[in-house]
Amino acid sequence: MAERIRVLIPEEEVNRKVREIAAQINHDYQGRSVHMISVLKGGAFFACELAKRLELPEVTIDFMSVSSYGAGTESSGVVRIIKDLDEPIEGKNLLIVEDIIDSGRTLAYLIEILKKRNPASVRLCTLLDKPSRRVIKQVKVDYTCFSIPDEFVVGFGLDYDQKYRNLPYIGVVEPE
Ligand code: IMP
Ligand code: MG
Repeated sequence: MAERIRVLIPEEEVNRKVREIAAQINHDYQGRSVHMISVLKGGAFFACELAKRLELPEVTIDFMSVSSYGAGTESSGVVRIIKDLDEPIEGKNLLIVEDIIDSGRTLAYLIEILKKRNPASVRLCTLLDKPSRRVIKQVKVDYTCFSIPDEFVVGFGLDYDQKYRNLPYIGVVEPE
């Protein structure tokens, strides 16, 4: 069955906000290096857009893949590492970049395992946040581009059954 996608946040607005968040990060990290941790696959799109706008002494990026969802739209509550980081993170200023924070389970788990590897600092940056869906309340988000209502969204890296990641805007999936 085909879906209809309704535009929630237009492309220009997403791009403008990414520039704004990048400027804020540039300001906060002045003179320091940042090691971006991008969560595949969804977070990679946003991470790349953000990375291009960072102006810091050293910007590096590593990717990791965890799974918390099945093929549908419901959280399984089970998080596991599919692909670990390539490089050690000890002593580095980590910036975890996510596409969306929903229940917060994925991030809570990720932060826990990353902190055990002794980074210098850990901050979180997300493109989207669904605060009304939060189960793990202690997850503190440092940079949020957009807080959105409880709707299933796609685009800018986010998928519905692996489709629509390529959309340059954020849309809501509506059954035809
Ligand atoms: P959490 O562990 O419940 O916070 O789930 C976070 C992950 O669920 C995200 O990284 C996405 O992969 C996925 N997810 C949550 N909400 C949506 C959505 O509206 N569209 C697409 N993926 C979503
Ligand atoms: Mg994700």
